[in-house]
Amino acid sequence: MKLLFIGDVVGSLGRQAVCEYLPKLKKKYRPQVTIINGENAASGRGITEKIYKKFLQDGADVVTLGNHAWDNRDIFQFIDEAKRLVRPANFPDGVPGEGMVFVKVNQLELAVINLQARSFMVDLDDPFKKVDQLIAQAKKRTPLIFIDFHGETTSEKQAMGWYVDGRVSAVVGTHTHVQTNDARILPKGTAYLTDVGMTGPYDGILGMKKEAIIEKFLTSLPQRFEVVEKGRQLLSACVIDIDDKTGLATSIQPIQISEDRPFNAD
Ligand SMILES: [Fe+2]
Ligand SMILES: [Fe+2]
Repeated sequence: MKLLFIGDVVGSLGRQAVCEYLPKLKKKYRPQVTIINGENAASGRGITEKIYKKFLQDGADVVTLGNHAWDNRDIFQFIDEAKRLVRPANFPDGVPGEGMVFVKVNQLELAVINLQARSFMVDLDDPFKKVDQLIAQAKKRTPLIFIDFHGETTSEKQAMGWYVDGRVSAVVGTHTHVQTNDARILPKGTAYLTDVGMTGPYDGILGMKKEAIIEKFLTSLPQRFEVVEKGRQLLSACVIDIDDKTGLATSIQPIQISEDRPFNAD
């Protein structure tokens, strides 16, 4: 199975980049499953039902979330009916939505898990304990398991990669909005990338207007952060090849598209 994952889509520039480049990426890489992290899709804060449906229309099979999952209150109206939307699985029991979904591709099934890290983030349930439970649950149905681990620190994300090595197909990080240069197959066969990076404004700071962020660093005074809505775009993604029988990965390739790294159709 070949899988395409697109990192944190931020605001309208991010959504436009998905709309423009997803068909081209599909043509080039021919993935059977496409997953998009949409936690910042609505003006940088959360996701709406309309945007979720547009992602599916544009060619996504599953949309993952993160700490911004709940920022747009629209989510509470549709998350329980949205069968292809995954929020971090380690929120406490009783929170709306699902932390793992299954996608069918011909005869195969892929489990898509979203988890949130805890270092410098809200103190959720232990993602390591949770991942053990979810892997056991998923393995009853399929060896093909993908994890979007949404976290701040490189160490916690590496720890998760090593912890599940050989037990899942892939662990990729999201949330920092900056792609790391460490894509690899871990020794027991799990594809790993500390952070896929973001999809959205190329000239902001993590997608936000840079002036307010710089002002915040200069003065330490509260600032209103706004997403960049005009200008150049960046798309960050990765393509992962998985052996259907073993569920282990055979390759992982990071992708970035921007004015500095133009899309190459070959
Ligand atoms: Fe994000
Ligand atoms: Fe995040």
